[in-house]
Amino acid sequence: MKIIKFNELSSTNDYLKENYQTLDNYTICTTSYQTKGKGRISRNWESQKNQNILMSILVKDFKKRTNFSNITLLVGCVVHKFLSKYTNSLKIKWPNDILVDNKKIVGILSEAKSINNQIDSIIIGIGININQTTFSSDINNLTTSLSLLTNNIYNNDELIIELSNMLITKLDNYLNLDDSYLNYLKDFLYAKGELISFFKDNTIHQGILLDVGVDGKLIINENNELFHLESGEIKIIRK
Ligand code: BTN
Repeated sequence: MKIIKFNELSSTNDYLKENYQTLDNYTICTTSYQTKGKGRISRNWESQKNQNILMSILVKDFKKRTNFSNITLLVGCVVHKFLSKYTNSLKIKWPNDILVDNKKIVGILSEAKSINNQIDSIIIGIGININQTTFSSDINNLTTSLSLLTNNIYNNDELIIELSNMLITKLDNYLNLDDSYLNYLKDFLYAKGELISFFKDNTIHQGILLDVGVDGKLIINENNELFHLESGEIKIIRK
């Protein structure tokens, strides 16, 4: 396992995206601080210096897999299992977050690099709030960390090694067509049975989140018809 560690980077995802051609499969890049940490949908990812896990892993050897649409779900399951050693009540919010009591503790951002319209490499970035205890005012009430949940302080270097080992083992299984992570996801799926909103054809729809299917899509009951959501974000509707 190769872990490249930086004191500061623009973004661990960007580093792997810029250097993927010369780096080995499963190279892991980590940093203590990102000047341009990225979230999904052009959001930024906030993380104070030296407080949290900021890492990305490069996947180049796809073994038997040809479709990677669920790789973020697999990584969410691995991170959930890893964090469950330290705290409980964690839920996996499809497709790429981990929450505790509706507060976000993990975000995952997968990006692909293609050559001649073929995926050549996949970069999976993982941000986990570990020791940070205050966040900027707009997200403070929506965000938590391992320290806030357990009142302990953690050694991020040790956690990164532990998580990296788990990730490589589970990615290997996934790439050899093991889909058992989907059963794990079913057990810890956020908002199961709840009324949620989601986007379909550019408009907001509502329905009851029933489950995740064998294809990784969300199964939603919308006016007594089943809809299979492939991508996007969901929100619980509180009455
Ligand atoms: C999201 O919740 O929108 C995804 C957040 C992903 C954040 C991680 S931190 C490490 C890696 N580098 C980045 O710039 N982003 C990901």
